[in-house]
Amino acid sequence: MAFQQFYSGFLSANKHKQHYACHSHYFWPDCTREATLEYWDDSAKYVDEKWGFFFQTLVPELQQRISDILNTGAPQQIVFAPNTHELLYRIMSCFNTSAPYKVVSTDSEFHSFQRQASRLQEQGTIELITVPTKPYNSFSSRFKAAIAEHNPELVFFSQVFFNSGYVVNDVADIVNSVTNESTLVVVDGYHGFMAKPTDLSEIAHRAFYLSGSYKYAQAGEGACFAHVPVGCELRPTYTGWFAEFGELDKPRAVGGQERIQYSLDGMRFAGATMDFTALYRLRAVLRMFEKNSMSVETINDYVMNMQQVFLDELAKYDHPLLNEGNLAVSDEACRGHFLTFELDDADVTKDLALKLKAHHILTDYRGNRLRFGFGLYHTPDYVDLSPLLKLV
Ligand SMILES: Cc1ncc(COP(=O)(O)O)c(C=O)c1O
Repeated sequence: MAFQQFYSGFLSANKHKQHYACHSHYFWPDCTREATLEYWDDSAKYVDEKWGFFFQTLVPELQQRISDILNTGAPQQIVFAPNTHELLYRIMSCFNTSAPYKVVSTDSEFHSFQRQASRLQEQGTIELITVPTKPYNSFSSRFKAAIAEHNPELVFFSQVFFNSGYVVNDVADIVNSVTNESTLVVVDGYHGFMAKPTDLSEIAHRAFYLSGSYKYAQAGEGACFAHVPVGCELRPTYTGWFAEFGELDKPRAVGGQERIQYSLDGMRFAGATMDFTALYRLRAVLRMFEKNSMSVETINDYVMNMQQVFLDELAKYDHPLLNEGNLAVSDEACRGHFLTFELDDADVTKDLALKLKAHHILTDYRGNRLRFGFGLYHTPDYVDLSPLLKLV
């Protein structure tokens, strides 16, 4: 199938550019434009009734679709927020200890976690145990050993690391290794959702899974979600009025006062009013995928093939920096939807990224790592690496 047909708006606005940053900001399919207008129309039509309309139509449909994609078997456990940071902080607000609590994580978590955790550590609220992701082939066993050794209150790790593209293929194994039932386990699935086929059925009762829409779900910013473990009875302190939607906990009297009630399902992790435009866009994209039989498997096959096309093309140029020898992850079975080239230092990397940009090859970089992402709007014809001849 010619997938480019779905991206005509963004493609025509970016003619003569090669956009390899879809792992950051994916081009939006055309259907998201109509979805934005549909949100406007429905807001005009329903005005004060619109929240009821959204919660009866949009939200359950999205919960069902996301739950099906991740095979959680529990659509009611999906809760939405504008970004994953809000959900992370809400999860962390469940801890009610005066002593610092232990968090086991990695040295390759996205800034939303990294910055927040560092600040909480600085304040003495948490004790952060950081496991290096390298060497990748021993990551899982080292991470499991750290969990066993420290018996933390919280375990946080990514399904696919943002700074290398390395895929943790044994997420369930790591989650199942956590024997202390009161330890919270959170998987950052932002680089996994809609990119790598993901089956959470084995851990849906045990782990939180966070993701959102501006990468591989292609719906832009503002539509993030958490799968909340089935049966979860936690009571986040950072709570908003949406957390009271649906069936509620039975109120319990505490010291003559009623305890704050929470929704019985994933909504107990909801916040408050948010702009649902992004959810309209997300629904439109997921419907479009379904209509055109674009499963995550199909998408993954296409993208991994495009990576190979790119690498074959690259091999022709024998470039001193951009070559397979500098790939962070050479085994494609453990690689997400972007290629990461590890260069000598941050200056060399920035310099190369800027030179590529001057030749309309758009990438992004983190320190000494240059990332090229691949998506459905790429074709073999799209790839033109001839500018590299001028960049040796
Ligand atoms: C691994 C990962 N998690 C989360 C995010 C987004 O975080 P937030 O929704 O808090 O802005 C990103 C964005 O690049 C990411 O790469």
